Amino acid sequence: MSTEAGLVEVHAPDSLVPAAADAIGDAVRDAVESTGRCRLALAGGTTPRPIYAELAGLDVPWEHVHVYFGDERAVGPAHPRSNYGTAFRWLLRHVPVPPQHVHRPRAEWADLARAARAYEEELPDALDVLLLGLGVDGHVASLFPGSPVLAEEGHLVAPTLAPVSGERRLTLTPKAIRLAHEVIVLVRGADKAQAVRHALAVDGSVDSCPARLVADATWILDTDAATLLEVTGPRRE
Ligand code: 6PG
Repeated sequence: MSTEAGLVEVHAPDSLVPAAADAIGDAVRDAVESTGRCRLALAGGTTPRPIYAELAGLDVPWEHVHVYFGDERAVGPAHPRSNYGTAFRWLLRHVPVPPQHVHRPRAEWADLARAARAYEEELPDALDVLLLGLGVDGHVASLFPGSPVLAEEGHLVAPTLAPVSGERRLTLTPKAIRLAHEVIVLVRGADKAQAVRHALAVDGSVDSCPARLVADATWILDTDAATLLEVTGPRRE
């Protein structure tokens, strides 16, 4: 379904993983074919895990891919909450991305502002492909509702805090997200249906639903996450 937003693909739950992996593989190959490289930012959280495992089995020119991260928790790479650690276990250790092409945010540094500046130095002017998940509260990366980082205009990376837990994080800013050439949002599960509806609704604010920053992206959903969407266009199952 193409909306005035972006492209919304809705898949049966057991088809989401191959469909998402194929879409990511196509986007990476397209970038490499057109520019000789792909600057790919990976999403954190749990949704991408099986998608990364499937992606690892596809024919992707990994030697031309540079890997970044949409956000990172303030933990070391071996910590179970590390988004880098998750990506390494599910994807990076299975594919031949040159180690020097993996740009890990140093979110474990005590000085998170310094870590943000260091990571920003490694980022390209614009990412080629940015993968994002969606939080039940409508956050993407670590851009949470009401966050002052939503008003950040200058930088591409900022330190932030997760609500409730207060967990320290680094996140791409709205500017970095807007500059990305291709954004793919990966959403699975009925618990995300309300957030999907708010993100893609005609009315609403980014402050209350940061995912509205990427309403015009490619959304790859399972039917459970799409339950509250009025899907009028063709559904791709
Ligand atoms: C993170 C992610 C975050 C995640 C969503 C969805 O570091 O947690 O960047 O934005 O993508 O919270 O997480 P799940 O896929 O685990 O539901």
